[in-house]
Amino acid sequence: MVILHGVSKHYPQRRRPALDDVSLHVPPGQFLFLTGPSGAGKTTFLRLLFGAALPSAGTIRVGGADLGRLSPRQIPRLRRKLGVIFQDFKLMPRLSVFENVALALRVAGVKSRDLVERVERALRQVGLDHLAEAQADSLSGGEQQRAAIARALAHQPALILADEPSGNLDPRNALEVMKLLVAAHARGATVILATHDPALLDMVHGARVAKLEAGRLEES
Ligand SMILES: Nc1ncnc2c1ncn2[C@@H]1O[C@H](COP(=O)(O)OP(=O)(O)O)[C@@H](O)[C@H]1O
Ligand SMILES: [Mg+2]
Repeated sequence: MVILHGVSKHYPQRRRPALDDVSLHVPPGQFLFLTGPSGAGKTTFLRLLFGAALPSAGTIRVGGADLGRLSPRQIPRLRRKLGVIFQDFKLMPRLSVFENVALALRVAGVKSRDLVERVERALRQVGLDHLAEAQADSLSGGEQQRAAIARALAHQPALILADEPSGNLDPRNALEVMKLLVAAHARGATVILATHDPALLDMVHGARVAKLEAGRLEES
């Protein structure tokens, strides 16, 4: 599903690379925790996978596509295979919960006649059907993250990338978020979850753990 080979990322004006010669193979259906302290390169790693940044060296394949050879026109096609979840939710604040999810489905190419049903199903899955018409920024943090998960999962992506998805939440909501990701994994998705929080690792049985330390990857 994801193959990195000799990937490094240097930011301008930074002496040390954010990622240093990282190689990794994530087969389809795996749940991978990407751990490591703040500043270790976790966000950089995920940003490379969804095409938000380019590596300085090395090759990255996601779902069979070589990211180094993607034309700008092919990036939307890559994103359709992906569901991305952020620590700070990144909902469109003035749109309703329904509209946030519908927008993502439209971008993913879902036809209008299927749209309402697909949005409703995604919102039921995260337990937010009763808040479909609420404006996104009126929701609590836990509700916003569940809306963001509905948005990320509604098009049934093969690969889910989550960057500290429970980082802004209290323990109860954090557990809820983890349960939703575990459920998506059980339905067949590959999941890569970046976290600095070791407490999350116990929540997923059989998950693989890889650790970044100052840009270098080691398996544990
Ligand atoms: N846009 C950027 N420009 C310059 N340096 C960056 C940028 N993004 C991240 N970095 C640096 O790269 C390193 C890794 O950061 P990051 O990937 O955010 O780590 P993590 O998510 O593990 O906290 C840090 O030293 C950080 O300061
Ligand atoms: Mg980060």
